[in-house]
Amino acid sequence: MDKKLQVAPIGVFDSGYGGLTVLKELQAQLPQYDFIYLGDNARAPYGNRSFEVVYQYTLSCVRWLFEQNCPLVILACNTASAKALRTIQQNDLSNIDSTKRVLGVIRPTAEVIGKHTKTKVIGILGTSGTVQSNSYPIEINKFFPEVAVYQHPCPMWVPLIENNEFLSAGAYYFIEQDLERLLSQNSNIDTILLGCTHYPLIEPILKKIIGSRPITLLSQGAIVAHSLDDYLKRHVELRDRCTRSATHKYCTTDDYTIFEDHSRLFLGHRIKAESIQVQ
Ligand code: DGL
Repeated sequence: MDKKLQVAPIGVFDSGYGGLTVLKELQAQLPQYDFIYLGDNARAPYGNRSFEVVYQYTLSCVRWLFEQNCPLVILACNTASAKALRTIQQNDLSNIDSTKRVLGVIRPTAEVIGKHTKTKVIGILGTSGTVQSNSYPIEINKFFPEVAVYQHPCPMWVPLIENNEFLSAGAYYFIEQDLERLLSQNSNIDTILLGCTHYPLIEPILKKIIGSRPITLLSQGAIVAHSLDDYLKRHVELRDRCTRSATHKYCTTDDYTIFEDHSRLFLGHRIKAESIQVQ
């Protein structure tokens, strides 16, 4: 069979566990589709790494998902979306297979975020890489030029979440400090985007710190799932290459038993995972 015509699950990629918060919503909103999740846990976190390293790591994982015949890969990772997506779309896809697609999480979020703010002042929390890339202010400005965007990097959060340490008193200190640093930039911030797919795990802690202040926290999972649903309706040829038997496969570049244990936190139930190697 011509490789281009092969049908396969949708690939979902993250540096580690964070993309599971997006996958959970994809499974809920697109229950008929098959998904293969790949977490690059062996090399996570990506957040403080250079553009070149994030790009190379992300490309190797996208290639692996393409080797599983995925016609479409979602980078369920803001850092990878900020630092690798455009180069992969513009330079690599044509060499690998121009019929395949790679989509990220920043654009679908930027397309709708302005509808959530009344004060027209929003805050973004993300990894150092995402914040330094300025991707959010640039993308949001295209859709909502009237919205002011403030950002703050939280380099400690992903390691705390990946290591399941986010409920400790030490973690609370860092989480509170970073949140208040964002809010101190403008007292009119009424919407905060959790601009890292790991952060929904600490949403209850953030809500506690925010208290009665009129601030909405926005996670990306439902936004990305809604956007993908719409994309597949508009791209019927690609949609027809995505298999629909409601299966979910989980792969990690690290020890699969650790992945199985941790994933319960993100998905709410235990799953079976597989260790794989990317080139
Ligand atoms: N979940 C990623 C993101 O959305 C991860 C970050 C990391 O590996 O530092 O940015």
